[in-house]
Formats: sequence, structure tokens, C-alpha cells
Amino acid sequence: MIPSYANFGGKIHGGILLSLMDKVAYACAAKHSGAYCVTVAVDNVEFLQPVEVGDLVSLHASVNYVGNTSLIIGIKVIAENVTIGSVKHTNTSYFTMVAKNLEGKLQEIPGLVLETREEVRRYLEAIKRKELKFQYKEQLNNEKSNLAIDEELYKLEKERCVLNLNNDTNPTT
Ligand SMILES: CC(C)(COP(=O)(O)OP(=O)(O)OC[C@H]1O[C@@H](n2cnc3c(N)ncnc32)[C@H](O)[C@@H]1OP(=O)(O)O)[C@@H](O)C(=O)NCCC(=O)NCCS
Repeated sequence: MIPSYANFGGKIHGGILLSLMDKVAYACAAKHSGAYCVTVAVDNVEFLQPVEVGDLVSLHASVNYVGNTSLIIGIKVIAENVTIGSVKHTNTSYFTMVAKNLEGKLQEIPGLVLETREEVRRYLEAIKRKELKFQYKEQLNNEKSNLAIDEELYKLEKERCVLNLNNDTNPTT
């Protein structure tokens, strides 16, 4: 990682890593599908450890799951300091990509041959993640539409915020 990728704190900018991950996800998805692919969703972006200027960063990608037109690419990011020989796993994220044809319409993609138990584990895990994501979205939408602000105000008592609604111009929200 070169100095111009660093943020003000001297560590590599998260956006640089995300951009690299997106490019790798594209390459992996396009190669499997034989089509142009777009990024639809990125799950689980948590940078567990910082990446330093000078680190050698490797991105390991695999096609974990395929649907009809979408596929999920798992990407593991490893940062290595080659001078002291340390290796850090900075994050693993999951990119959902969708294949499109030259007219921009959704394109069906080939299925996936699972050749190892590890590939089976990744596939099953992807199905589980999809199910949980769907449930989470449903529940969150439900909670949001049922949120009764006045009844939940007590939750703010333990929070590090101060209520000052005197100038609130929209008291009904
Ligand atoms: C993603 C996109 C193609 C979905 O279009 P759509 O007409 O709603 O299509 P569908 O609902 O039939 O979904 C198509 C596939 O995408 C998947 N999909 C759609 N939205 C998704 C989401 N939020 N998360 C995960 N997968 C999603 C569907 O499950 C489906 O997969 P399958 O064919 O394998 O079953 C469309 O929203 C799009 O083009 N978005 C812009 C993507 C883009 O330009 N990205 C670049 C970054 S700006």
C-alpha cells in the first residue's frame, strides 16, 4: 500500500480497500458468469485491524453462491508486513453481484460445481446469510413503522445524548 492511499491518521483508507474489493468481486463474478456484472450489495464490512502504508495486501475471492442472475462473492483481505513477517486478516466481506447482458437486462448465469466440503460450507453459509438478511430487513422495516417515539424516550436516559426539542419544527415525526 502506497502513502497516497493513507488517511489523515496514516493508515490505509477504508475506501481504498473497498474499491479494491469491488474490483476483485467484479473480476470473480464476470469470470464465472461470462457476463458484465454490477454490484448490488455489500455485506459485513467491518475493518477489524488497520492496514499500514507499506503492507502487502492480498485479496482472496471465491464464488460462494449462485442464484439465477446473482452471485455472492466472498472476499478475504490479508495485510502482510513483509519486513517483519506479520500477517493480519483485516476483514471478510460478501459482495452480491448481478449479471447483465449487453442490453442491460438481467442475464442467467451458470450453476456452481461444489468440489470440496469447504465449498459446500460456503454455499450453505451463504444461504443462511441470505435468509437472515431477509428476516432482518423485514423486522427492521416493521420496527421502523411501529416506532412510538414517546414510548421509547426512556431508552435515551442511558444514552450519551441530551434532549432539547424546544426548537423542533416537526413534533409529530
Ligand atoms: C440489482 C438490480 C439488477 C436488481 O434489479 P431488479 O429488476 O430489481 O431485479 P430482481 O428483483 O429480479 O433481482 C435480480 C437478482 O438480484 C438479486 N437482488 C436484487 N436486489 C438485491 C439486494 N438488495 N440484495 C441482494 N440481492 C439482490 C435478486 O435476488 C435476484 O437474484 P436471482 O436472479 O439470483 O434470484 C438493479 O436494482 C440494478 O441494476 N441496480 C444497480 C446496480 C448498479 O448499478 N451497481 C453499481 C453501483 S452504483
